[in-house]
Amino acid sequence: MGKKVLIIGQGGREHALVWKLAQSPQIDKIYAAPGNPGMAQLAECIDIPADDMEKLLSFAGSVGIDLTVVGPEVPLMAGIVDSFQAEGLKIFGPTSAAARLEGSKVFTKELMKKYHIPTARFDVYRDIEKARSCIRIYTDQGKAVVIKADGLAAGKGVVVARSEQEADQALESIMLERSLGEAGDQVVIEECLYGEEVSLFVVSDGRDFVSLISAQDHKQVFDNDQGPNTGGMGAYVNPPIYTPELHQEVEKTIVRPVLRAMAAEGCPYQGVLYVGLMITADGPKVLEFNARFGDPETQAIMPMIKGDILPLFEAAVAGQLANYQVVLEKGSCVCVVLASAGYPGPYEKGKLITGLDEIGAETIVFHAGTTVRDGQFFTRGGRVLAVVSRGANTDEAIKRVYSELGKISFEGMHYRNDIGRKALQRRI
Ligand code: AMP
Ligand code: GLY
Repeated sequence: MGKKVLIIGQGGREHALVWKLAQSPQIDKIYAAPGNPGMAQLAECIDIPADDMEKLLSFAGSVGIDLTVVGPEVPLMAGIVDSFQAEGLKIFGPTSAAARLEGSKVFTKELMKKYHIPTARFDVYRDIEKARSCIRIYTDQGKAVVIKADGLAAGKGVVVARSEQEADQALESIMLERSLGEAGDQVVIEECLYGEEVSLFVVSDGRDFVSLISAQDHKQVFDNDQGPNTGGMGAYVNPPIYTPELHQEVEKTIVRPVLRAMAAEGCPYQGVLYVGLMITADGPKVLEFNARFGDPETQAIMPMIKGDILPLFEAAVAGQLANYQVVLEKGSCVCVVLASAGYPGPYEKGKLITGLDEIGAETIVFHAGTTVRDGQFFTRGGRVLAVVSRGANTDEAIKRVYSELGKISFEGMHYRNDIGRKALQRRI
């Protein structure tokens, strides 16, 4: 009998995971909790929120789920993996102690310092006056400074401040007004790094790991990296700045040491690790780790993985990644996010989406914030859809994705026109 898999989450990232797992000949049935209308075409959506651990656990137990894959960070931090493991259920993701690599910046910075993993210089403060004095040391020298709330903040916990006033405002909001709640009990103040950002995705079984692929996100809402930060407006794989030599250096100085460090600290890391890097003039340095797949990077990564992905997740859960080979497709893949008017601020909802059935077979549309009524799709979130195309190279993938997404429309739809352009500029 075929296997049953449960995906937890409801975004474009989880739709991409469902899409990839649906190609596995070993899988009979996929469930998504809570899922979305895009996933519903490939999976049975179960009306359980991603953070309702008890219901998820009892569902997985009663249906006989063979493997659960967790998309978002919140259930990981809350210990969903610990709970499933305690019941003898297989689940792909880190325990809550291991997910601190994302959930506590203080933990992670101190770990990197202890194990000599390259990252920005930093200090940790609980006291706002001491934090202010530290900031002044940077701003008096005319240097930018980065302020990070310790805990999970849904992308709102990091401020790159270019003046003392900006830095003070961020500190007051985090530490006095407690805009992020207890996530702001402690702050990390760190030097600003300069360079190009790259994300590397690796899968670890707690001891061994395999690198999947690198990608570049586009965080700002407008072209040329202008405007406020978003969850990510698009991504492409294999950015040219991330050369094979650089990759070897990153594995040697960052990935292997951090996985060894986590094991040595008694919290071996199992699952996918998102390594956020700044490629500086002094070499690659860690900006952050995330304990999960990236969104929208995953939408560009899944189509690049050749063959069945289930054995990779199973080998990670079973501690059998030594000698595991991941084979990638040739060429490139680009993902462009279509967003609602107003996003990343308050946005409109309920707009009819047209053109989805005109998309060519070589392009995939992953749903993020959609809803369905009488067979028609409507907008329901800030990031609505992710349109993804492969190509023989990045140039071709870019041309294809933009020509296809022109067929889709909804009132107020906006997207970036320059996803992947950095790759082309670098090659010239
Ligand atoms: P984090 O959640 O720590 O990755 O921070 C989110 C974003 O803030 C990163 O993707 C970078 O764009 C930026 N950032 C974080 N730390 C630094 C730093 N030390 N220097 C420059 N930019 C940073
Ligand atoms: N794309 C950024 C993230 O998933 O955190």
